[in-house]
Amino acid sequence: MNLRPLGKTGLDVSEIGLGAAQIGNRSLPEEQAESVLRTALDAGINFIDTAAMYGVSEERIGRYVSDRQDDFVLATKCGDYQIEEAGTWKTVKDYSPEGITETIDASRKKLQMDVIDIVQFHGVPGDKDDEEAAYDALMGAKENGWVKFVGVSQDGQKGADAAEQWDLDTQEFTYNVLFQEADTFLFPSLREHEMGAIIKRPIANAVYTMTERPEGAFNGVPWDRAQDYPLADIAGDIPLVDFALKFTLAHPDVSTAIIGTTNVDHLKANTAITDDLDNDLIEAAKSAWTELFG
Ligand SMILES: NC(=O)c1ccc[n+]([C@@H]2O[C@H](COP(=O)([O-])OP(=O)(O)OC[C@H]3O[C@@H](n4cnc5c(N)ncnc54)[C@H](OP(=O)(O)O)[C@@H]3O)[C@@H](O)[C@H]2O)c1
Repeated sequence: MNLRPLGKTGLDVSEIGLGAAQIGNRSLPEEQAESVLRTALDAGINFIDTAAMYGVSEERIGRYVSDRQDDFVLATKCGDYQIEEAGTWKTVKDYSPEGITETIDASRKKLQMDVIDIVQFHGVPGDKDDEEAAYDALMGAKENGWVKFVGVSQDGQKGADAAEQWDLDTQEFTYNVLFQEADTFLFPSLREHEMGAIIKRPIANAVYTMTERPEGAFNGVPWDRAQDYPLADIAGDIPLVDFALKFTLAHPDVSTAIIGTTNVDHLKANTAITDDLDNDLIEAAKSAWTELFG
């Protein structure tokens, strides 16, 4: 597994990371979550992404791999979390300074880690939040030693604005063969500020393997793009998931591509994919995208 620098943090991270949103699903059996986490580390992954609001993801990371904390870099997120009301789990957005501090402290306990490597905002604060107080609380967790590095998870212009305005170490955002917008909005500002680029949705949720439109906008919107985008023609003999990951990894500014999965076979197959892709194919994938969506 190749390692890449995570911006100016001094950390080297595996170019393929684990997105741990899916293992937070409360209906996923414990053994399966444990197996995904242990397989990821055994396969050379040294970067795990989670969030306070990803169900029981943080608890499971704490339960199954906190004893191997030195083997990986852990990134979590604050700004929202889940509460149970009348038997239903609801997401609460909370960018108050107290909310941020309490969420980070709760993450330390769930993860069983005194010091968390990275905490990012799960989206930048909203218009009604006191933005300065929110960032002060995030930076405060770094100053008091709970957190080593801070960042934001935010796509688009708002993400670029945050990189300009605040002293951030990392940014998490979408970049894949179907969503190449970050080339314009985010990579340039990250380069300028030497921030680590954590890529979410790096294989575009594998929507191009689905024959029916998935329910909901999260997978539905990429699926719509995939209907127009000539991925199979461009990929030729290369399997589509392999091509999608290779395309993301081919970007020189990507630090780690965090793939989400609950499937150990997928995980093993993903970690065997290498980051080589002919320049002609990269250019073909870019120009087809620009023509359709640019
Ligand atoms: N706002 C935010 O901060 C935000 C938003 C979205 C995601 N994220 C983070 O980014 C991570 C990755 O994003 P994502 O999960 O949305 O997108 P993704 O990694 O592009 O795609 C994940 C999907 O692809 C499937 N998959 C994985 N490997 C496969 C393979 N070899 N063959 C076929 N299907 C495969 C997975 O299903 P199987 O379980 O069947 O493998 C899963 O449904 C998340 O886990 C989360 O940590 C953050």
